[in-house]
Amino acid sequence: METAPNLVLIGPMGAGKTSIGKRLAERFALAFVDADREVEVHTGVSVATIFDCEGEAGFRERERETLARLLAGHATLVATGGGAVLDPGNRALMRRHGFVVHLHVGVEGQLQRLARCTNRPLLQRADREAVLREMAVTREPLYAKTADLRFDTRGLSPAEATSQLAMLL
Ligand code: S3P
Repeated sequence: METAPNLVLIGPMGAGKTSIGKRLAERFALAFVDADREVEVHTGVSVATIFDCEGEAGFRERERETLARLLAGHATLVATGGGAVLDPGNRALMRRHGFVVHLHVGVEGQLQRLARCTNRPLLQRADREAVLREMAVTREPLYAKTADLRFDTRGLSPAEATSQLAMLL
């Protein structure tokens, strides 16, 4: 990891990018930034509001600008949004400026972890499982080809996942 300035976490909603990312950043003395949170701080409104007002395309544009800014920095752990890998430019930037870790969870794991989540704009439909499966078909190959390392978080608490992942970095 010493050779790469940033550590980038990718993976679907509920994979633990934020909870594991915060702990990992502390261990490696990296600054922690959650890209969604950064978009919210920058715009002054929630991700859900951006989806409402500007649609997914508007959010993706803001996500792109934010990632470009964050990845230009050093010694930062960037937790990305689950859809950040959809953009080829984002994927190239992540690989150029960081060591990229794919946190895997699987649809069953996502359903469990996101059971009480109400604020994800892309999870507002009743058939959550179908939505997540559809996303996985498109996105899993993108996570796989962008990542330097894949780590399976299934069955692990954030603390356990962090300890195990830290040993691999
Ligand atoms: C999204 C995931 C969210 C957020 C937005 C869109 C996605 O981030 O960026 O709601 O397309 O999967 P998390 O993966 O942190 O939940």
